[in-house]
Amino acid sequence: MSHALTPVPVTARRSGPLRGSVRVPGDKSISHRAMIFGLLAIGETVVTGLLEGEDVMRTADAARALGAIVHHDGPGAWRVRGVGVGGLREPAGLLDFGNAGTGSRLMMGVCGSHPITTTFDGDASLRKRPMRRILDPLEQMGTVIVSQEAGGRVPLTLRGPKEALPITYRTPVASAQIKSAVLLAGLAAPGETTVIETEATRDHTEKMLTHFGADVVVTPEGEHGRRIVLKGQPELQARPIVVPADPSSAAFPLVAGLIVPGSDILIESVMTNPLRSGLLTTLREMGADITVESEANEGGEAVATLRVRASALKGVVVPPERAPSMIDEYPVLAVAASFATGTTRMRGLQELRVKESDRLAAVEAGLKAAGVTCAIEGDDLVVEGSGGAVTGGGTVATHLDHRIAMSFLVMGLATQRPMQVDDGAMIATSFPSFISLMNGLGAEISGVEIG
Ligand code: S3P
Repeated sequence: MSHALTPVPVTARRSGPLRGSVRVPGDKSISHRAMIFGLLAIGETVVTGLLEGEDVMRTADAARALGAIVHHDGPGAWRVRGVGVGGLREPAGLLDFGNAGTGSRLMMGVCGSHPITTTFDGDASLRKRPMRRILDPLEQMGTVIVSQEAGGRVPLTLRGPKEALPITYRTPVASAQIKSAVLLAGLAAPGETTVIETEATRDHTEKMLTHFGADVVVTPEGEHGRRIVLKGQPELQARPIVVPADPSSAAFPLVAGLIVPGSDILIESVMTNPLRSGLLTTLREMGADITVESEANEGGEAVATLRVRASALKGVVVPPERAPSMIDEYPVLAVAASFATGTTRMRGLQELRVKESDRLAAVEAGLKAAGVTCAIEGDDLVVEGSGGAVTGGGTVATHLDHRIAMSFLVMGLATQRPMQVDDGAMIATSFPSFISLMNGLGAEISGVEIG
């Protein structure tokens, strides 16, 4: 099943200095997990600041289909009455996750360890993405893969065992989605489920497990890794969830503020979890003028209001071990790099090939359409900076990928000629207010071709 949204071409043109203060929507990772934990808890989980993008709405629909009662009380304000671990209802129809990799993979973990049969599907982008990485550990726990497309793609059907087996699983690639799927599956298993990751990835699932009363122990593993041990079959208790602003969405006004000459903007209360902050580290190494105006704590996460001023950036080498902490930010970093002086080499980007699109190929094609010199060398992306003067003028193929669309619209705010993306419809999956928020800062982004 596919959400064949009508493609909406969108154009961004060179803009005057960006000014003002914005707050980007709630974090997508935490919003998906809010729905999932709400489903698995006993009692009513009250959520504020939820991202109301298409992806999270698909996860909310799935939670309903599995037995949760989900209420929408107002902007960002939701209540989820859960069924408890072990209490999932077998859904009447298939679970359609649209464009959402996170929602589908985490829910596979949840459903795969319960004694129910569930069918997962999604749009043309999700149907291309690898699910074997989730099915492998689930099979070890006793899940039967009733049917699947070639190579473990959706649509696929899972049948969970009467009682799942606890496992110890070493994730084969740095992925918070694999880690989270195994931990969520482990909730229904007796005994201890252990996940070992050699590179630490975002830790929202572990934090939320603890917040909801599960027994989770996290210890360091090797130089950059972690070992997470979960005691199975807890009774999760509903707890309030405050969703902080998404650093992956903040990345777009952030880079725009750096590359549009004369800009000076504030981005309010952005989550600064260190496992999500690789872009900030990298941009600062490039010479970005980003200062922290105030700091606070929202829902157990550190947040900071960032002041961003247009900056002369210089090229850097981004080490591969930083990738998990900025995995979704490489497309917009590549845009920043194209305005820098000198070469930027982003190392170890193999996982970008299996995101909403093949982001390595999509970024390379988009940069070339804008007249930027760049190359893919093995798993590295190498961008030759223009020292500020990027020609632009191209049309970028977005391949149903929201972050490709937003990255190249940000680029068009500072290129000499406008940049067009072939389809901005998918922006609604993660950042429905993107165009109005950016235009409120003075950006010129429009749904019709300009100039
Ligand atoms: C996410 C994990 C990342 C990231 C995705 C959200 C999550 O995916 O790209 O947007 O919420 O756990 P991987 O785990 O596949 O790297």
